[in-house]
Amino acid sequence: MSQAIIIYETRTGNTRIIAEAIQEGMKKAGVEVLLKRTAETKADDMADVAAVILGAPTYHHDLISSMKTFLFEMEKADLNGKIGAAFGSYGWSGESVQIMGDTMKHIFGMEVMEPGLKIKRRPTESSLEQSKEFGKKIAEKIKRGGD
Ligand SMILES: Cc1cc2nc3c(=O)[nH]c(=O)nc-3n(C[C@H](O)[C@H](O)[C@H](O)COP(=O)(O)O)c2cc1C
Repeated sequence: MSQAIIIYETRTGNTRIIAEAIQEGMKKAGVEVLLKRTAETKADDMADVAAVILGAPTYHHDLISSMKTFLFEMEKADLNGKIGAAFGSYGWSGESVQIMGDTMKHIFGMEVMEPGLKIKRRPTESSLEQSKEFGKKIAEKIKRGGD
């Protein structure tokens, strides 16, 4: 059974590349992790995992709308006390990461890892390494049991 799920949204593919690198970093650190897009994810998919990692880009100083809709689906799951983390690609302001992190913390009662991961536009070799490292940090927290 998966210990974590990465749920992402993207318009031009940049956030998907980050999501895949985070997944790779987590797998390398020994954690089973599913990767799904918002439209194919249901509240039940989050029932048995220790961590939920959300990824979405910023458009018009806001979260991409499909992820906004998904946050209402997420409300149906009991996420209290689970580990949360947020990431996303952006161009110049990158509000999406803060919005997802704040929602996980204040609405769902999750233990959110700060800071989230903001990657400018299409990931470079170095930002891919940063993404894998972010995944490794999440995996280590899961393995420690959330401490
Ligand atoms: C119409 C439009 C509006 C955008 N608005 C913002 C914005 O307000 N702030 C920001 O940081 N980036 C903004 N961006 C840049 C995107 O966040 C950036 O291209 C990002 O890499 C897209 O990620 P994606 O490939 O996962 O969709 C905008 C891009 C477009 C095309």
